[in-house]
Amino acid sequence: MNGRVPVDLSGAAQTMLTTLYLKALDADFVRPVLGDRYAKGAVARLDYDWRQIGVTGRWAPLITVRTAQYDLWTRQFLAVHQSATVAHLGCGLDSRVFRVDPGPAVQWYDVDFPEVIALRERIYPSRRGYHLVAASATDPSWLERIPTDRPLLLLAEGISMYLPQHEGVALLRRITQRLPSGELQIDFYNRLAVRSQKRHTLVRRSGSTLHWAVDGPDEILRAVPGVRLLTAVTLFDADTFVRASAAFRLAKRVVPMVPPLRNALQYHRYAFGPATKAPESQRHPSARMLEEGLRR
Ligand SMILES: C[S@@+](CC[C@H](N)C(=O)[O-])C[C@H]1O[C@@H](n2cnc3c(N)ncnc32)[C@H](O)[C@@H]1O
Repeated sequence: MNGRVPVDLSGAAQTMLTTLYLKALDADFVRPVLGDRYAKGAVARLDYDWRQIGVTGRWAPLITVRTAQYDLWTRQFLAVHQSATVAHLGCGLDSRVFRVDPGPAVQWYDVDFPEVIALRERIYPSRRGYHLVAASATDPSWLERIPTDRPLLLLAEGISMYLPQHEGVALLRRITQRLPSGELQIDFYNRLAVRSQKRHTLVRRSGSTLHWAVDGPDEILRAVPGVRLLTAVTLFDADTFVRASAAFRLAKRVVPMVPPLRNALQYHRYAFGPATKAPESQRHPSARMLEEGLRR
């Protein structure tokens, strides 16, 4: 026994080991994108042969740009809604609740499959206002635990693509029907990314399957009544992309020539319920242009 926590995961649940590992590698970069010391600590605590992951740190920006962007949007939401609920679906071993460190009037729910939540319990400490929910995100029962008397931030990072489309849409509809107001912050792969899934090491090695593809915010606006688009950006246009490695920044100059490639990884942000005007400072300066671009 080495005192470390054994890991036995497969399928979609296993994919969170790759995102965790890339965050841990990023934390050691001279110029990290995310700088997540909790990820580094979690990797050290797990009894796992990380060579099995089969990816190197040069791919880290694929994950860390996204995570840093959702950290930024989470902070913006909580700055406006100090008394709020956060439901973080498919949390894996992501340490957002510790990185963001919400105030005392926030109730935060981390939701994932029971085997992932069991690992979380052994890796991370508890904290006030923080709840673990061992359930599938598509199981309607977890929503019954969520308070309905305050705005909800639904965070779903790196999970939509593992859901069948009809279940993903039903989940978003259930949330907007049950909660009075809030935001949906959710990322999507486009059809090109889902079609080429056999080439993704993360998907291949975990034996998981990608299902739901979204080519642009119009598809969500049509499928989920009552949501309003706040912003939608691609990996390359995220605010946090400026911190990515030189190789990624070079790739950004090439991909505009191939729109489906440029739009492969999309980060969307919607509001629902009565409008609270977001400060203009929270709107990405080129968001409108990108939203138009994503529709094309
Ligand atoms: C690629 S990982 C992302 C983990 C984390 N959000 C991050 O960015 O590091 C996908 C996560 O979604 C979870 N997941 C996939 N389908 C799910 C479902 N139906 N219900 C709950 N969690 C799910 C997996 O267990 C896994 O933790």
